[in-house]
Amino acid sequence: MSLDTHVVVLAAGQGTRMKSIMPKVMHQLAGLPMVDHVLRAADALRPSTITVVVGHKAETIRAHLKGRQNVRTVVQEPQLGTAHALQQTEPVLAGLSGTLVLLSGDVPLLRASTLQRLAETHRRANAAATVATATVERPYGYGRVVRTGGRIVRIVEERDASPAERQIREINSGIYAFDLAPLFEALRGIASQNAQGEFYLTDLVGIYRRRKLPVETLPVTNADEIRGINSRTELAEVSRLVRQNKNEELMAAGVTLVDPATTYIDADVEVGPDTVIHPGVVLEGQTRIGPACEIQAHVRIVDSTLGSHVSVNSFCLIVGASVANGAAVGPFAHLRPESVVGEKAKVGNFVELKKTTLGAGSKANHLAYLGDADIGADVNIGAGTIICNYDGQTKHQTSIEEGAFIGSDTQLIAPVTIGRGAYVGTGTTVREDVPPGALAVSAGKQRNIEGWVARKRGTAAKS
Ligand code: UD1
Ligand code: CA
Repeated sequence: MSLDTHVVVLAAGQGTRMKSIMPKVMHQLAGLPMVDHVLRAADALRPSTITVVVGHKAETIRAHLKGRQNVRTVVQEPQLGTAHALQQTEPVLAGLSGTLVLLSGDVPLLRASTLQRLAETHRRANAAATVATATVERPYGYGRVVRTGGRIVRIVEERDASPAERQIREINSGIYAFDLAPLFEALRGIASQNAQGEFYLTDLVGIYRRRKLPVETLPVTNADEIRGINSRTELAEVSRLVRQNKNEELMAAGVTLVDPATTYIDADVEVGPDTVIHPGVVLEGQTRIGPACEIQAHVRIVDSTLGSHVSVNSFCLIVGASVANGAAVGPFAHLRPESVVGEKAKVGNFVELKKTTLGAGSKANHLAYLGDADIGADVNIGAGTIICNYDGQTKHQTSIEEGAFIGSDTQLIAPVTIGRGAYVGTGTTVREDVPPGALAVSAGKQRNIEGWVARKRGTAAKS
C-alpha cells in the first residue's frame, strides 16, 4: 500500500449529454458500470484512501459502492464544476500530505500502469500538478493544453478557446496527480468566469504557473486510454474498445474467436484455452468457460459455468446455470438459473431447464420442460415431457432416479418421484410415485372404430 497516495474519483456530474435518468457513471461497459472500471484502475495503485465525489443521483451510486470497504463518498451539492467537486474532499483529505491522483468517473479505459507512470513522473519531478495528456486526431470537446516554449502554461476548455487554440490537438485527459500540500488553498483561487459559469479544475494549471509552482505533463501514447464518455455515441465507441481489449487478451491466452468483431465478452468472463467461439456469441457477467469447448453461433451465456469439452449449439440461452465436462447443449435450449447439466449429459432442441439437475449421461433431447427437478444419472427424458411443477400457487419438486426412462409426451405432476430404473409409458400422466423398476401407464386402452372417417363425411359406400 502506498501510504502517501490518495485517489479521488469525480462522479457527481449529471451527464446531461447522456439524456438518461441514470447517473452517467452507472452506465455499463462490458458488463460493469463505468465507475467500476475506474475503481479497478484506482485499486491497482493501492492508495491509502479512495474518495468518490457523488452528487447527481448520489443515492444510486452510493448504493452501488456500498460493498466496497475501501471507498468512501462525499457529496457535491449543487454541482458547480470540477474544481468545486474536488473541493468537497477537503474535509476528508485536509492535513494529509503526499500525492492525490484525480480520476474522472467518465474516463474508464485508463490502465493501472499509466496511472503508476503518472504518479512516478509527478514524484520524480517534485511537481505541484501533473496532467495526463494525449495528442489526438479529433480534439473536439476536450480541454486543450496550451504550451509556450514547450511547457504547459494553461488548459483552455473547448467553449472558451479561441479559434487558434481549437487547432491544438494535445488534450487534457482530466486525469491528474496533485501534491496535496498547496492544493486546497489554491482551489479557492479558482473563479467561474467562463462560458459555462463553472469552477474549472483546469484553471489550477494557470494558477500554479503564475505562482511559479512546477506543473508537469505525462503524454499518454495510446490516446484510446483516456477517452471520455459524454454521450451514448461515445459510450458505444468506448464499449467497442473495451471489448476489443478483452478479445485480444483471450486470443493471446489461446481462445479462438472466429470473428472478434461480432463476439461480445464482458470484462470478468473467463475462457479456457482451445475453446472455439463462433460469431454472434455473447458471454456476460461472471461466466466461466473451461478449455476445449465449442460455442456455436448466436449463443448467449450469462453468469454461468461450463466445464471442459462442452459443446453449445446455436441459439441457446444459458443463465445462472452450470454445465459439466463433455455435456452437449442445444440448438435452441434454454437453461435457466440454478440448472445443472451433468457430465456428458445432453440437452437438445426446445428443452427448458429451471432449477433442475440433469445427472451425468442423462438425455433430454427434444421438446421438454423440466422445472424444480432432481434427475439422476443415465435417465432418458422422452420428447414432449412436461414437469407440471406449479399448481397455480406453489412450486413442487420432482425426483427422477438413476436409470429411469420417461416415455414421450408424459406429464409428471409434482410433487412426484420416479424410482430407480422405472419406466413411464408414452403419454402417461403421472400423478403418483412410481416405484423403482415399475412401469407406469395411464393412457386408456386404444379402440379402433372401423369405417368412422367415411361415415362422418357421409361418403360410406352403399352396398
Ligand atoms: C473535463 C475537463 C476537460 C477534459 C475532459 C476530459 C474541466 C473543466 N474540463 O471536461 O479539460 O478534456 O474532462 O474528459 O475539468 N463532475 C463533478 N462535479 C461537477 C462537474 C463534473 O463531479 O460539478 C465530474 C463528472 O461527473 C465527470 C467529471 O467530473 O465524471 C468530468 O466532468 P465533465 O462535465 O464530463 O467534464 P468535461 O466537459 O468532459
Ligand atoms: Ca467528460
